[in-house]
Amino acid sequence: MNNQKFKEKVKEASDFIKHQTGSVPEIAIVLGSGLAYFGDKIETEKIIDISTIPHYPLPTVSGHQGKLIFGKVGKTPILAAKGRSHYYEGKDLNTITFYAHLFQSLGVKKLILTNAAGGVNPDFLPGDFVLIDDFINFGQVDLPWEKDYRKLLSAKLKTRAEAAARAMGTQLPRGIYCWTTGPSFETPAEVRAIRALGGDLAGMSTLPEAVVAHELGFEILGISLVTNQAAGISQNPLTHEEVKETADKIKEPYYHFMKNVINAIN
Ligand code: HPA
Repeated sequence: MNNQKFKEKVKEASDFIKHQTGSVPEIAIVLGSGLAYFGDKIETEKIIDISTIPHYPLPTVSGHQGKLIFGKVGKTPILAAKGRSHYYEGKDLNTITFYAHLFQSLGVKKLILTNAAGGVNPDFLPGDFVLIDDFINFGQVDLPWEKDYRKLLSAKLKTRAEAAARAMGTQLPRGIYCWTTGPSFETPAEVRAIRALGGDLAGMSTLPEAVVAHELGFEILGISLVTNQAAGISQNPLTHEEVKETADKIKEPYYHFMKNVINAIN
């Protein structure tokens, strides 16, 4: 798609939203697989079903309902996005990052990217939160960024998120997120390879989005919920149910944790 056409689509989507809500969120949070609960708990001003927004790409993966929730966490106006598109759905970079272009046009300045990830580092257990410190591109996909992925993420926001975790008495270790295109989980040999490369987490989202969102000028924070130990790390076979079950079990602490992080980075 040519650039001009894409920009027009983003503008149409943005105009549509501006007609429905006057809210100008400072922070947007993209909710990963199974983490939609956070969006249900915030003080809500307006919910927009993404299927009604012109040109908004619809995710095809179960567990990803598509809604934009405008509301508040404490005094902070936020936008929570349920449902993201993945590379493995056959989507191109513009499609996967449409929301980032849209949020920029709505005036959002800070972006929290959350995801469910497999723990490659054996110290990371299901239910742990990990602050994404850097990325590895295991996706064999050329992303438009040839410098240092670590710089995609805001050093200032990382420090503030760590301070919020400390204040709650919660652990928030840093980790390197290794992006795989999916949709299948990694094999045990791939997980060993990722570990040997220095990866701590494996997941199928977030890196392409962070690359584009950084180009768009957002301050970005990335937080993974470890939903399972990656293939071969534990003796138990890995299933999509385990990913959902962990996200489900952790939803209350996850909500409180993210609330505190949002208050800390505002
Ligand atoms: N690998 C990749 N992506 C994931 C995993 C995993 O083990 N768990 C949740 N998302």
